[in-house]
Amino acid sequence: MWIGHVDDQPVGWWAVWPREGGVAELGYRLARRWWRQGLAVEGASAVVTEAFADPQLDVVRAETMVVNTGSRGVMRRLGMRELRTEVREWGEPLPGAELGEVISEITRQDWCRTLS
Ligand SMILES: CC(C)(COP(=O)(O)OP(=O)(O)OC[C@H]1O[C@@H](n2cnc3c(N)ncnc32)[C@H](O)[C@@H]1OP(=O)(O)O)[C@@H](O)C(=O)NCCC(=O)NCCS
Repeated sequence: MWIGHVDDQPVGWWAVWPREGGVAELGYRLARRWWRQGLAVEGASAVVTEAFADPQLDVVRAETMVVNTGSRGVMRRLGMRELRTEVREWGEPLPGAELGEVISEITRQDWCRTLS
């Protein structure tokens, strides 16, 4: 897990959690005053590069609500591919939860291609 800073101010966090079978899951959250400045993509690019430094890792996956346009924008800018939508049961669903979650991923090969 990483905390990102602009000058000496923390702006948010990015994390990569190892899952089974050569897969890791990416997540992030920025304080609202830092939104829409390209920082989520900048931080996510850095942590995905760091994640793929592990030769055991084949795929980075991420998940967000269908209605979370900002987070889907981050994944699109990273070059992640939207695989499918899953509708889940939640105890206290957020607005839009009925439309489900989008699962996106990028392979090591595609990530290396985006860097070159
Ligand atoms: C989602 C979140 C991380 C986006 O962070 P951000 O720093 O604003 O994203 P960026 O500025 O890097 O933008 C990435 C892309 O998404 C687009 N985007 C970001 N927010 C958007 C919004 N609200 N509506 C439409 N597009 C949006 C940007 O325009 C950009 O695409 P572009 O370069 O083609 O214009 C931030 O809003 C956040 O922390 N939200 C709350 C927590 C959250 O939803 N976390 C993810 C849970 S899965």
